[in-house]
Parts: sequence; C-alpha cells; structure tokens
Amino acid sequence: MGANDAESEDQSQMTRIPRHVAIIMDGNGRWAKNRNSPRHVGHRAGADSVRTVVEACAKKGVEALTLFAFSSENWKRPKKEVGLLFDLFMIALQRDVKRLKKNNVCLRVIGERTAFPEKLQEHIHMAEEATAENSGLMLQIAANYGGRWDITQATKRVAEKVKSGDLQPDEITEATINAELSFADLPDPDLFIRTGGEQRISNFVLWQMAYSEFYFSEQLWPDFDAAALDLAIQEFSQRERRFGKTSEQIRAIKNQ
Ligand code: IPE
Ligand code: IPE
Ligand code: MG
Repeated sequence: MGANDAESEDQSQMTRIPRHVAIIMDGNGRWAKNRNSPRHVGHRAGADSVRTVVEACAKKGVEALTLFAFSSENWKRPKKEVGLLFDLFMIALQRDVKRLKKNNVCLRVIGERTAFPEKLQEHIHMAEEATAENSGLMLQIAANYGGRWDITQATKRVAEKVKSGDLQPDEITEATINAELSFADLPDPDLFIRTGGEQRISNFVLWQMAYSEFYFSEQLWPDFDAAALDLAIQEFSQRERRFGKTSEQIRAIKNQ
C-alpha cells in the first residue's frame, strides 16, 4: 500500500507511465450547454471519450484506470438525469463488452451497487464476468462511489472483526483499513486528473490519493482525447515525487 514509486518507463520517449490513473470526468453538462443541447447529449459524448481514454491507457501499458462515473452525491440531480445516466451506463456495458475483451481489459465496478436498478446490477455482473480473465488494463468504474463511503464501509468491516474477536483494537494499522477498501489489490493512483476546470476532489478516492499527483484540465470531458491524456502524462512525468523525503534524497536514489 501507500507510496508506489515504481511507475514504468516508456523507453521510446523516456516518459514515466503512471501505473494507476484516476479521473473525474467532469464537464458533460457544460459541453452540451455550449451547443444549446440538453445535458444528456453531453453524457452521450462523454461515453465516447471513455472509450478513447480506455484504449489509450491500455495501449500505453497503464495497469489500472479508475473513472468516476456517478458519485454518492449525484443522486441529488433531477430524477430524469439520474435515470438517463443509468440507461447510458447499461447501454455502454452491453455494447462495449466485446471491445473490452478485444483490448484485454478487465472491468470492475466499485461503489454501492445494491442501490442500482436490478437490471443494471445484472448487466454489471455479466460484464465483470465476461472480462474477469483479461490480464491487461484493470478498468474500474466508480459508480455510486464516494471516498467517504469507501472509508465507512471499510471501517464497518474492521469493526466486525473486532466484534468477533479476530482483531484487537490496538492491532489496527493503516494496512488493516487499507485491506478493506474497494481496490486494496491495486497500487494507489499515481496520477489524478480532473477535467472541466473545477479544482476539487468531490468525494472521489480519498484515502488512496494521499500521494497522487493532481492534474487539472480546463477541457470539458467530451473534448478530452488521447492527446490530452498524453499531455497529462507528460506533466506527471516531470514531477518529482518525494513521498516526504527531500529532493536531495530522491536524486541520490535515482543516481544509484
Ligand atoms: C460529469 O459531467 C458527469 C457526471 C457527474 C455524471 P457533469 O454532468 O457534472 O457536467 P457539468 O459539470 O454540469 O458540466
Ligand atoms: C464529480 O462531478 C462526479 C463525477 C464526475 C461522476 P460533479 O459534477 O458531480 O462534482 P461537483 O458537484 O461539481 O463537485
Ligand atoms: Mg460537474
């Protein structure tokens, strides 16, 4: 867990490729508004960007990509928009499974899925099953996900262990909590991207982003493409990740 300072090197350009990229895909509504179109037009266009970015990450050898599709707080939106987002999610799951298989992508949905309509839950399950054996990119769709929800559900599981006597309170470490979070098997996100110009975390991944590099793009999500992803990765590549150490220490390690 924690600091993962072993991003892979893309030998051709000497660009450091983040192992795990996490993205808040924001700006669909404004993209539609700029075109005098209803918000759902923006969400549909956003789904195309998802395909582009997933394939670009798979090609680059990124190990994991976590996309924020629906937050715990997005239930507060008009009922019609929420329903439409679920419909789009279901259509994408049905339509894109073949494509995910072809690209060797393994799909996983993180978040409180029991709140979703039964049919959507079934489709999520089917898509996960169909791609479970794929060994390439791990694509995590965060749906009805919230960083606070994740820490809360992990805490409940730890409390159950204490209650049953399997764990003593003074044995609880960061690793104990980490192990109960939604993606304990993956490295922490190295690079966090938010499109749409806002500079906030909106209850996305909290615990595991303790040392992620933050990158904010003014581009609205439907405009975000492979070239925009390249720019973000290039900037990431130039950052010095210190994980609490001094710059001199980091350079000494690099020169070893
Ligand atoms: C992000 O785009 C998609 C979801 C939250 C589902 P928005 O719908 O938030 O777009 P803006 O921020 O209103 O432009
Ligand atoms: C965050 O975007 C959630 C997703 C992209 C799914 P929002 O548009 O909901 O965030 P706020 O409300 O502007 O903070
Ligand atoms: Mg938004």
